Amino acid sequence: MKRRKVLRQNDNRPIGIFDSGVGGLTVVKELAGILPREDIVYYGDTARVPYGTKSSNTIVRFSIENALFLLKQNVKLIVVACNTSSSVALPALKRNFKVPIVGVIHPGACDAVKACRNSRIGVIGTTATIKSDAYSRQIKRISASMKVYSRGCPLLAPAIEESLDDDRLMTDIIRYYLDPLKKMRIDTLVLGCTHYPIIKGLIAKVLGRQTNLVDSAKSTSAHVKELLTQSMLLSSSRSKGRIKFFVSDETQNFKRIGERFLNKRIDHIRKVVYGI
Ligand code: DGL
Repeated sequence: MKRRKVLRQNDNRPIGIFDSGVGGLTVVKELAGILPREDIVYYGDTARVPYGTKSSNTIVRFSIENALFLLKQNVKLIVVACNTSSSVALPALKRNFKVPIVGVIHPGACDAVKACRNSRIGVIGTTATIKSDAYSRQIKRISASMKVYSRGCPLLAPAIEESLDDDRLMTDIIRYYLDPLKKMRIDTLVLGCTHYPIIKGLIAKVLGRQTNLVDSAKSTSAHVKELLTQSMLLSSSRSKGRIKFFVSDETQNFKRIGERFLNKRIDHIRKVVYGI
């Protein structure tokens, strides 16, 4: 009997990831963890961060420019790590580019619906993410019976970047934002911002250990792995993937905060002047 040849198509081009700044490194960390052989190109738009306070038009424009930069790096897929960009700009990105584009909203929403037992889900994110209602719409599209309680938490991302080592102050901010959601008896909370996984432990303390926390960085990385596997686009490399970092402003701050987010040294960061 003749053996059928198994068709394997590998793609050794890097995965492109962009974010408004440093926060998307939480996605890089998860992705590099489950796909260690993949090369990654990261672009943080540090000159124009934050996106969370900006208008939809501006966020769409910046996101398109970020995607164009990544395409110049010959990426095989783009991950929109930024929750704000994903909420507001994903349809425009998908309309404009042929390369597969993955946002964080759909994977996070799917995991929230899977985890939730009482049909009450909380979502926190930047002002623009919450205003867009993207998580809520996506969750209800997956399961119409879900009740979604959303809250913008504009102070959280800057506080996390400032690395408040005073846990009491951070806990007060978390309480201020989460107490109203707690009163709604949510049993699942979507961490709808790149920065929030960093303070997952404190959030769990405030909400109680029985509340499910959905880390959209983890959900998205799992989704990317599945997508690359199914479309046979995984890298065939046997060595550890390399990560290249690009930013649009000076590199020092990115290095300082990024090493904390990534929990490892970042040696080379390149500043590019693009789209400004
Ligand atoms: N990366 C953004 C997000 O996940 C947070 C920071 C910002 O406002 O740009 O929504």
